[in-house]
Amino acid sequence: MSKALIGRENEYSMLKTKIENAIKCNTPLSLYISGTPGTGKTATTKSVLKSFNESKKVKSVYINCVGTNKKADIQRAILTELVATLPSKISLYDKELDNQFTKTNKTIIICFDEIDHLRSSRNSLLYEAFGWPTKFNRHVIVIGIANALDLTKRNLPNLQFKGHEPEVLTFQPYNTKQIEEILKDHVSTFGGNISVEEEKALLMCAKKAANQKGDIRNALNVISQAFQGKEEENKDLIPQQPMGLLTPKKNSARAVNRIFNEIHASPLVRSTLPLHSSIFLATLIRLVGNTRTSSTTKLRLYSAYETVCKNLNYTPVIGDERIEAINILESMSVIRCSGQNLKTNITFIDEIAKARAKIADSNLVAAVDEMNL
Ligand SMILES: Nc1ncnc2c1ncn2[C@@H]1O[C@H](COP(=O)(O)OP(=O)(O)OP(=O)(O)O)[C@@H](O)[C@H]1O
Ligand SMILES: [Mg+2]
Repeated sequence: MSKALIGRENEYSMLKTKIENAIKCNTPLSLYISGTPGTGKTATTKSVLKSFNESKKVKSVYINCVGTNKKADIQRAILTELVATLPSKISLYDKELDNQFTKTNKTIIICFDEIDHLRSSRNSLLYEAFGWPTKFNRHVIVIGIANALDLTKRNLPNLQFKGHEPEVLTFQPYNTKQIEEILKDHVSTFGGNISVEEEKALLMCAKKAANQKGDIRNALNVISQAFQGKEEENKDLIPQQPMGLLTPKKNSARAVNRIFNEIHASPLVRSTLPLHSSIFLATLIRLVGNTRTSSTTKLRLYSAYETVCKNLNYTPVIGDERIEAINILESMSVIRCSGQNLKTNITFIDEIAKARAKIADSNLVAAVDEMNL
């Protein structure tokens, strides 16, 4: 039986309820699910789709759009799930799809994962897909998934005019507590009890992952590597020492720390910033990016940062975590701080374009840029 993932209970039930209501009340439904990587969008949506598997009234089609933005590819992927034999020519796909959507006595849920790959100069494919729930008289529900917060608003403005604007469901990054619970659950599958030392390591990993945009994929990878020895021990295999790692039971916190640092040292990751450093930087650019001095006080930055967090629905970091977020920017030579107290100046010393690239989240930058701080 399919069920909600730990920490995604609300998202699971919200998605499931919206679909159930649309089917029950015969209302058209299109949804756009957004959220940063590793926030459980794909896993939750698949789990919700699976929960309809037993229903005779529902047929679900899941398509990962990575690498395809050709209309025929998408049509073929949908038709493959709906008909026994594909039409002999691509030119017949349109008609066959229309036919299937019109004559079906089921609700067809089509989920386009990584839907941003379907973008094109005129976005005709996206416009068409989001128009299906209204066009096909409630026989089709469309779900699009991607990272960008506002893909449909920003890239598909005409949906609103046509009354086809999808409902947006945003998956927030996992917080420390949720990550800790997920990791504990994951480690429990290795067998054996979780020692106090291991618990500490899990909490540390959860804190680090939460500070890096709440990406659970990364946290699970780190823990799988750090606890490799434990898993193998409990499988009654000869315990194998993972390359260069210390015995996980005694030193799991150190192993977690080291693996995190190794990941962070990779060129791919090094160029991007942790979540709260990114928010601080985007805020600073918004405040002083176009001013002559490029400076503001720490107090002003903190207060603007809190406004940004509130608008974006993030919990602002305080204390040591806040200092760490700022220190990272200083160590990357993006900012210069003239002292420790709140009245001291923080100066932006990078080039705006380069700094924006370091944030590596164009939606965050765009959202903060539009805010009144
Ligand atoms: N709450 C959770 N508990 C356990 N595993 C999870 C949880 N959330 C996600 N995962 C696992 O983490 C990985 C990433 O999740 P998922 O693919 O759903 O993220 P996503 O939001 O779709 O990311 P992306 O934007 O990169 O596609 C998957 O292997 C998934 O099974
Ligand atoms: Mg995904």
